[in-house]
Amino acid sequence: MRPKAELHLHIEGTLEPELVVELALRNRLELPTFDPEAIRARYDFADLQSFLDIYYENMAVLRTEQDFYDLAAAYLRRAQDQGVRRAEIFFDPQAHLVRGVPLEVVFGGLTAALKDSPVSADLILCFLRDRGAEEAERVLRAALPYREGFIGVGLDSAEVGYPPSLFRRVFEIAAAEGLHRVAHAGEEGGPDYVWEALDILHVSRVDHGIRAMEDPALVARLRDERIPLTVCPLSNVRLRAVPSLQDHVLPAMLDEGLLVTINSDDPAYFGGYVEDNYRALQRELGMTDDQLDLLARNSLEAAFA
Ligand code: HPA
Ligand code: ZN
Repeated sequence: MRPKAELHLHIEGTLEPELVVELALRNRLELPTFDPEAIRARYDFADLQSFLDIYYENMAVLRTEQDFYDLAAAYLRRAQDQGVRRAEIFFDPQAHLVRGVPLEVVFGGLTAALKDSPVSADLILCFLRDRGAEEAERVLRAALPYREGFIGVGLDSAEVGYPPSLFRRVFEIAAAEGLHRVAHAGEEGGPDYVWEALDILHVSRVDHGIRAMEDPALVARLRDERIPLTVCPLSNVRLRAVPSLQDHVLPAMLDEGLLVTINSDDPAYFGGYVEDNYRALQRELGMTDDQLDLLARNSLEAAFA
């Protein structure tokens, strides 16, 4: 299998229904159903928000350090099986803090799993953009005692209405701490969100970025500065950012010479891990081995380590 890096992966998005059930039983929590297939049957999404509603609901079973350890360890095993040599993994501390799970528990479990990982891996702390900039700043300051436990910050959750410019200050603080900066932009939001991520947040990678293709000047900027885009094809189909894989802008992005990478985003929800995304491109778009090899090489080039 071709060696690759995975650069756009939400660890909470790797929570498979079987693990939801196992953790609910272990933590004595109620669930609407304890049948993994019945949980999976709900995964028919109209847009990003309809996914996020279920994503936040399911992750409520994560309570203890052991839960976070088990979650990350399961992903890292699967990543190794999928040819991943390097994983830069998003996590959403605010989604746990609001449920009363302290940072110590989240960092404790995740960093222990990464220490035992069969593949090179690091964490990127994401701010939930729909919870605003003030809370993001509080969370970053609260996370600084765990500074050794993460290499960067990102921006995720509901995009439209929460432009990157709102988060200028917290990204400045992150920069001063020597953290890498990335942001989801141009998934549902327009090219203006990508411009802001570059010009105001000074990100070194753009997560998704597919709507950048609507703006030729932006495409030129991304190409000239070799700014990596972490594209997630199966996610885009399942969240209806594109009507089908056949309609995806990925081939056009490659034709434009952009530094595109392929990633799984939330594989437990979108029908495949990272190699499954590569295989879907081969099957549905007729991409050649050479094209897939280029995408894999891009991912290793775009990794922070
Ligand atoms: N977009 C925004 N926020 C997210 C996503 C996504 O694809 N996955 C998990 N949180
Ligand atoms: Zn994402």
